[in-house]
Amino acid sequence: MINKTVETAINEQIKHEFYSAYLYLSMSAWAEANNLPGAANWLRVQFKEEQGHAMKLYDYIVEQGGRVLLGPLAQPPAEWTSLLDLFQQVLDHEKKVTALITKLYEIAVAEKDYATQIMLQWFINEQVEEEQSATQIIETLKLVGNSGTALYMLDRQLAARS
Ligand code: FEO
Repeated sequence: MINKTVETAINEQIKHEFYSAYLYLSMSAWAEANNLPGAANWLRVQFKEEQGHAMKLYDYIVEQGGRVLLGPLAQPPAEWTSLLDLFQQVLDHEKKVTALITKLYEIAVAEKDYATQIMLQWFINEQVEEEQSATQIIETLKLVGNSGTALYMLDRQLAARS
């Protein structure tokens, strides 16, 4: 049976992961509206990944005999000034999620919940990757600057994500 303090904290993280999904879908909609179909694709894939993260935590609570409780989601932002601005906010958001995962891990440590610590190691690794991929896109966008052709080429690259 899962520790109640840990269960409550994981339920809270499920909400954050679904909010991440919602945020990236809103970003994808912005990209669609701004003639950036590749970025829209990348963000839609990210939306699905975040749902996967939420469901991984959901399934873990169920497997441990706990109770999943879903909380309300806030309305995500809908406007960004540029694709660079958008990806900078992706990175900022992922840094916040990394801090939340770290906090969750610390709760599992304090509660001596070893199974949850092991499960969360996957999320710790995933956050390293997520911050890295957002950082790489930001660096490329900075190089691209105001070049429409280069932005077009980058958007085509982002279209390849599946
Ligand atoms: Fe689920 Fe992007 O962290």
